[in-house]
Amino acid sequence: MNFTSLILFYVAALVSIVAAAPMRLSTRDVFVPPVLTPDAATTWTVNSTVTVTWDVSDPPAQITNKLGSIRLRKADRALPLVLADGFDILLGQIDVTVPWVVAGTDYSIVLFGDSGNWSPDFSIVGGPEF
Ligand SMILES: *[C@@H]1O[C@H](CO)[C@@H](O)[C@H](O)[C@H]1NC(C)=O
Repeated sequence: MNFTSLILFYVAALVSIVAAAPMRLSTRDVFVPPVLTPDAATTWTVNSTVTVTWDVSDPPAQITNKLGSIRLRKADRALPLVLADGFDILLGQIDVTVPWVVAGTDYSIVLFGDSGNWSPDFSIVGGPEF
């Protein structure tokens, strides 16, 4: 191989890597089901049972992690509070008990399955003011 053909070989190899990249991305099965409730208009009351729902209308054929988990966040921080865990992510809804936390308007939940998904901020009332 002379110098020119070596360069051409590397250029061809690089082009094939770049060309292959979009295909690899489109074949990935990342399921990020949007959280439907709670939404921005939601108010939860501490100690009550509420239903978290998410959209399962468009799941990929293969889901690498079928088990979901729901965590509570306040402002931009994850709290060490697990509301539900180990359920089938394709259920689309699950009842949880609102933990006894301080009242606030900046709570949100994170739904983990294949990938995390956040709800908008919503309110929790009934607990002590901070
Ligand atoms: C929530 O539950 C805790 C623990 O059982 C209780 O002490 C508290 O008074 C309850 N708060 C409300 C608003 O029901």
